[in-house]
Amino acid sequence: MSSPKDILAGMHRALEEKLSDRSWEHRSPHGLFTPIHYTISLGGKRLRPLLCCVAARCFTEQWQRALPAAVALEVFHNFTLLHDDLMDRSPLRRGQETVYRRWGDNTAILSGDAMSIEAYTALAEVEDKGLLPALLASFNKMAMEVCIGQQLDMEYELRQEVTVAEYMEMIRLKTSVLLGASLEIGALIGGADSQTAHSLYEAGVELGLAFQIQDDLLDVYGDEATFGKPIGGDIINAKKTLLLLYALEQLRGSELEELRAILELSPEERRGQVAHVRSLYERVGVRAYATQAVEAHTARAYSLLEPLALSQEGRDLLLTLFATLAGRKS
Ligand code: IPE
Ligand code: IPE
Ligand code: MG
Ligand code: MG
Ligand code: MG
Repeated sequence: MSSPKDILAGMHRALEEKLSDRSWEHRSPHGLFTPIHYTISLGGKRLRPLLCCVAARCFTEQWQRALPAAVALEVFHNFTLLHDDLMDRSPLRRGQETVYRRWGDNTAILSGDAMSIEAYTALAEVEDKGLLPALLASFNKMAMEVCIGQQLDMEYELRQEVTVAEYMEMIRLKTSVLLGASLEIGALIGGADSQTAHSLYEAGVELGLAFQIQDDLLDVYGDEATFGKPIGGDIINAKKTLLLLYALEQLRGSELEELRAILELSPEERRGQVAHVRSLYERVGVRAYATQAVEAHTARAYSLLEPLALSQEGRDLLLTLFATLAGRKS
C-alpha cells in the first residue's frame, strides 16, 4: 500500500513529464518560448494540477486522464504569474529573476499570451472530447474571473477605503476560483456528476481564500529565500490586503495617522517604511488575526468535503494535499 504522500509524489512526477512533453526549450522563436521553459522549469508547488489529479482520483482509478487538464491549469497559472509580476513590479519569483526583469516587459506580455494559448491547447487534449464543453465552460468562467480579480487588486491599490467584504471578493476572483476550477475540472474528468463537481469547486474556493491570506501573511512575515518572492512587496505597492485593512480598522490616534500617511507616499518612498508598517501591525495583533482567518477558511474547506461521496483514496489524498498548505512557508 502506497501512502498518500507517495501517491502525490507519483502524480507530481507524471505531471512534470507531461509538462516537459511540450518542449518549450526547443521551439522557435526562442525569444518567445525560452521564458516559458524558464518559468515552468523553476517548479513551484504545482498545487493546481495536483488538485486536478486528486479530484479525478476521487471518482476513478484512472486519474492520469486528468493530466492534460492538469497541465492546462498549471500553464494558465504560470501565465498569470508573468503578467502579475509585471503589474506588481516584482523582481523575484521562485527565487529567480522575474521574466519582465530578465527579458523586458514585452516578453512578459507576449510569452504570457503564448502560455495562455498553450493552456487551452493542453485542455483540448483531454481524451474524452464529450467533456470539452463542460470543461471549457468552467475554465473560461474561471479565466475571466481571474482577470476581474486582478483588475480589482490594481484598482484597490489606489483606493483609500476598501472593505473586508470587497477584499474577500477580490481574492476569491484573483486566486480562489482557480483552485476551485482545478478541483471541478478534475472531478468532471473523473466522472463526477456536475453537482458533486461543483461542491468540490466550493471547497477549492474556500481553500483558495485561506491560501491567498497566507500569501499576504508571507509577503510581510515570510523568509525571502524560502518564499522565493520579495518580502514587503504588498506594503510597497499599498496592496489592500486583509492585514492592512485590519490595521486600518484597529489603529487609533497618531498610529492610525502614521499608517495613513505611509499610504499617501509613492511606492519608492514606501520602500523604506516596511519595518515601520510591520511595527504598526504588531500594535494591533494583525498577524494573529490573519492567521486565524487562514485557519477558519481551511476548516471550512475541510467541512465542505465531509458530506461528499468520494473514493477513500481520493479523500485521503485531498486531505493530505490540503494539510500541506496549512502552515506553508513557500
Ligand atoms: C502564487 O501561487 C500566486 C498566488 C495565488 C498567491 P503559488 O504560491 O501557488 O505559486 P507557485 O506555483 O507555488 O510558485
Ligand atoms: C496572486 O496575487 C494572484 C495572481 C497571480 C493571479 P499576488 O500578486 O499576491 O501573487 P504573488 O504574491 O505575486 O505570487
Ligand atoms: Mg504579485
Ligand atoms: Mg498581484
Ligand atoms: Mg502575494
